[in-house]
Amino acid sequence: MKGLLTLRTLSEDKILEIIETALEFKNGRKVDFPGKKMVTLFYENSTRTQYSFQVAMINLGITPLSFNLAGSSVNKGESLYDTVKTFESLGVDGVVIRHTQDVYYNDLENIKIPIFNGGDGTSDHPTQTLLDLMTIYEEFGHFDGLKICLVGDVRHSRVAHGNSEVMRRLGMEVFISGPEEYADFTAPYLTIDEAVEECDVINLLRVQFERHQQDMGITVEEYHKAYGLTMDRAKAMKDNAIIMHPAPFNRGVEIASEVAECDKARIFKQMTNGVFIRMAVISMVLEGKL
Ligand code: NCD
Repeated sequence: MKGLLTLRTLSEDKILEIIETALEFKNGRKVDFPGKKMVTLFYENSTRTQYSFQVAMINLGITPLSFNLAGSSVNKGESLYDTVKTFESLGVDGVVIRHTQDVYYNDLENIKIPIFNGGDGTSDHPTQTLLDLMTIYEEFGHFDGLKICLVGDVRHSRVAHGNSEVMRRLGMEVFISGPEEYADFTAPYLTIDEAVEECDVINLLRVQFERHQQDMGITVEEYHKAYGLTMDRAKAMKDNAIIMHPAPFNRGVEIASEVAECDKARIFKQMTNGVFIRMAVISMVLEGKL
């Protein structure tokens, strides 16, 4: 299949090439694909991923089409495969998909147009991982030996699952923190107080209330106190350490409201970088480099 489905099968060199290409776009490089059109097919809510893909398309001269799930034939029972095949038949040049199902793209093997994964279930979110890496690279100039802690609802987070695999391969030391019942893969566990003292990057994760089968068993205030990044904890971080979050963030739950825009926070910079990463990924796929 063409496009970008996961980073798990991409080499470290290719991942670095995507980041370098994104940096070139950030520095003003222009590429144009006149006459192309792409659709964003989102079966789950999204603000950043969906609209930064669309902005990236516009920046590349590609016409973005939005898919209105509620008004579509999905409500008449049309499958994902038949929906994507329909857009292929309409002459669309690529499709960005977010879906609740892990590795949904296994059902799309017969599709010829490129597919860009905008997040699958709790498994992967490759363009988020790339924009996180770009933000870290801009800050530190390398990955090797950097310590990152993924803090929060690790179990339900496709960002945590995707990031941890690639970040380890690039030489980063990955730790996890948050409620221990949500720590679902093997990585050294740190309390939030240990994490802020030791790590170069605090990568906060949203509490994914919509994916929980049962109540967390603690109040929002208790969660914030036990696992959240309070201003005092942000102040205890190393001088050059940074705070990241894929957003949307729950102010007062995993992050104190005033921390979200403090000097160490890179959350809105991550969003800006997301446009350049998506420009890089789309252009490299259309040029046959990815
Ligand atoms: C994340 C997602 O949807 O996977 N957000 C994003 O894409 N920027 C994380 C989240 O929803 O918590």
